[in-house]
Amino acid sequence: MFFRQVHVGPMQNFSYIIGDKNSKEAVVVDAGWEADKLIEIAKKENLQIKKIILTHSHYDHIQKVDELASKTNAEVYFHEDDYNEIKSIIKNPNIKIHKLKNNDEIYVGKIKIKVIHTPGHTPGAICLLAGNKLITGDTLFVNAIGRTDLAGGDSLKLFESLQKLKKLDDKIEVYPGHDYGDIPFSTIGGEKKANPYFKCESKEQFLSLLGVF
Ligand SMILES: [Fe+2]
Repeated sequence: MFFRQVHVGPMQNFSYIIGDKNSKEAVVVDAGWEADKLIEIAKKENLQIKKIILTHSHYDHIQKVDELASKTNAEVYFHEDDYNEIKSIIKNPNIKIHKLKNNDEIYVGKIKIKVIHTPGHTPGAICLLAGNKLITGDTLFVNAIGRTDLAGGDSLKLFESLQKLKKLDDKIEVYPGHDYGDIPFSTIGGEKKANPYFKCESKEQFLSLLGVF
């Protein structure tokens, strides 16, 4: 499996490219900035971008999706609960859109990408599991979590979503939507040890740490 974490734009965002070297197909995760940079990387690896998956509806993760999908003919996937916000910025009527639900599977060649619905940062926020790598969008960062005070945010739902992620194996690698930590990626086990929000075992403790309870 080809896997690349790519720094894009002025807000410390990460996009990701996952590729199957046999079928020469690739998926891009999040398209907030620098569509051409992502296209160039795929091209150098002899991969064709066939699909774009968006972790959630915030502009710094989606604003280049129309450009990237139009230039590559890729189909676009995102969770149904963030549908309206994302649909409104896709202008090209030829772009094919797929609505996702929890537990859906998306294939790039033979590589399976599993969708885990993790609402809280936005209603339709998702994490994506490919092999031992979990792309967490703005749900879970290295030593931090996504904000819940923006439109559609919900602290209690984010707490429940984090409990879902805690059930994954400690060795699973965590690849966030922003480079906010002291290292660019981590593991579920590492976050259980060091991330004060991920460590919380009760919702009361979590909400008081967030200062909303
Ligand atoms: Fe966000």
